[in-house]
Amino acid sequence: MDRRMLVAGNWKMYTTSGEGAVLVQDIAEELDDSLSGVEVVVCPPFTGIKAVSTVIELDHLTMGLGAQDVFWEQEGPFTGAISPRMLTELRCTHVIIGHSERREHFGETDETVNKKVHAAFRAGLQPIVCCGETLATREAGNTDAFVRSQITSGVAGLDAEQAGRLVVAYEPIWAIGTGRTPTPESANDVARAIRATIGAMYGPPAAMQMRVLYGGSVKPENAKMFFGEPDIDGALVGGASLDAKSFADIVRAAL
Ligand code: 13P
Repeated sequence: MDRRMLVAGNWKMYTTSGEGAVLVQDIAEELDDSLSGVEVVVCPPFTGIKAVSTVIELDHLTMGLGAQDVFWEQEGPFTGAISPRMLTELRCTHVIIGHSERREHFGETDETVNKKVHAAFRAGLQPIVCCGETLATREAGNTDAFVRSQITSGVAGLDAEQAGRLVVAYEPIWAIGTGRTPTPESANDVARAIRATIGAMYGPPAAMQMRVLYGGSVKPENAKMFFGEPDIDGALVGGASLDAKSFADIVRAAL
């Protein structure tokens, strides 16, 4: 099965609107026309989405635009929240859901992740659903069971067609921003377990079609190793996505 590689940059809470507009232009310049084989997505903070969207439109870039979170209601008295239709209005195509930083600092649970995944699909946004274990869970030998359970709850209640369009990012928490990574083989083992979970829930065709990204200290120097693994279909990149050249090098490693 030929799955298209996807490299997404999660800019977290680093870029102002102005900085984001410059960064996306720099990335586009670095990538030139080498974009086409790989799906590239940038995910600025909410306040930067409009500026980045404008650059993408005016410069006719093919890159996707993602938010880092979304609320599950379309509108209402939810102070501080952003709805799916607010994102699609700004031509967002993707949304990261359930990042471990949102689970840790903002009370995100598998249940809220599930509501957001459904809301994203309803709005035509491509969810990038995050999962991953702590170091303690890994050292206890419980990684597979933990990640399988996050996925089982987080993406429950879809239909097989939606499940096939899922993107799941496997991000071991201990690898995020630390410079430490699992071996590519061990990351692939978890990616395979994620695919098997989707297979058990929605059938083999959905499992073959859905994409699994690896995230956690992905750099130009190690990206190719992860991309060489059969169940890894790309990367969700944090720190290295804030540097246009590093991000473009990671994209090129996926070609
Ligand atoms: P780093 O690439 O900085 O480790 O961050 C990974 C991440 O959390 C992407 O969502």
